[in-house]
Amino acid sequence: MAEELPPLDLARPEIGPEEERLVLEVLRSGRLSLGPMLERFERDFAAWLGVEDAVAVSSGTAALHLGVRALGWGHGDEVVLSPFTFVASANCLLYAGVKPVFADIDPVGLNLDPAAAEAAVSEATVGLLPIDIFGQPADLPAFERIAAKRSLGILQDSCQALGAIDSEGRKVGSRGNVATFAFYANKQMTTGEGGMIIPADAAMAEVLRSERNQGRAIDMDWLDHDRVGFNYRMSDVTAAIGVAQVARLDELLAGRARAARLYLDRLGPLTAAAGGVGIELPAADEPPARRSWFVFPVRLPEGADRDGVIRALGEQGIPAKAYLPSIHLFPHLTGFGYREGQFPVAESVAARSLALPFHAGLDEGDVDRVASALGAALAAG
Ligand SMILES: Cc1ncc(COP(=O)(O)O)c(C=O)c1O
Repeated sequence: MAEELPPLDLARPEIGPEEERLVLEVLRSGRLSLGPMLERFERDFAAWLGVEDAVAVSSGTAALHLGVRALGWGHGDEVVLSPFTFVASANCLLYAGVKPVFADIDPVGLNLDPAAAEAAVSEATVGLLPIDIFGQPADLPAFERIAAKRSLGILQDSCQALGAIDSEGRKVGSRGNVATFAFYANKQMTTGEGGMIIPADAAMAEVLRSERNQGRAIDMDWLDHDRVGFNYRMSDVTAAIGVAQVARLDELLAGRARAARLYLDRLGPLTAAAGGVGIELPAADEPPARRSWFVFPVRLPEGADRDGVIRALGEQGIPAKAYLPSIHLFPHLTGFGYREGQFPVAESVAARSLALPFHAGLDEGDVDRVASALGAALAAG
């Protein structure tokens, strides 16, 4: 009977009439790039986050790259980060010739463990790159203490965590560190492709706006350049989607939190504590800290056949993804000497993580369907 149900989406953006209206407004205006919609998106986003300024760029990866440059990190430098992340967190360092130095994660929040990070700091270390993985806020107060003690910079990769609240009750990305967000179609809010960088001050914002625009200061002619730059511009068409999404960001976040609560409720019986097959659920919030729900990841019990589970779910129209790998084992990073067994917590979590279908449109029936198929697949395996 389950086979007759339509397949579920692994992720799905929420696009409504206001997104359509604003995109059309831009298309009809003739100002498709570097126009007023881009400025409006930056203003609205900064206001929502509670920061002075925000600089929109073409992707989260572009935001990270400009962030690395803004902090002055370069050849010979080392930056400490978690290996349990999306590869762009490390690639942005490689672009600048910086060595990514990995340290293990804490087994509950799955973010960089502050003690492990501090132990990885060397003479060459210039910064920390905390990532809020799966929307779980990293321990910024601890990283800020380490950074102050060791004179390090901080670049926050909050690409998965727009809307999360940290352990001091502050919105992730609003602490005054350079912080980055991403708006790919599976994110809490989307612009299709896009990113945002929160500058540390007005001087940095000016450089970021120049570097995203081929190294042109704001008052310079199109063919005038006074620094190395990139084409990391976000178009006004894209920014229009962003304006509409920020206007209902609280609602989008609430919709995802509602879907997550359904999962927590329906999957609870599958945990070891409830006498179930032994899956592990995302860590519970410790107020005032609050996760922003980006994906819904579970960890399968040690020894479970994850590929078999993915196949069994797929046969019932339920997409699921092994998510995330530990990136220190990718060939372009093993060249730094990283090897299997080096970060046991990250590697164990990476081997057992499974992302289930997740978006704000999931209803109780969808979640019941996933929960019973997951339970059955694990019981059979
Ligand atoms: C942790 C993390 N950092 C960076 C990025 C890069 O963002 P983008 O895909 O917009 O370049 C992503 C994207 O998923 C991410 O998850």
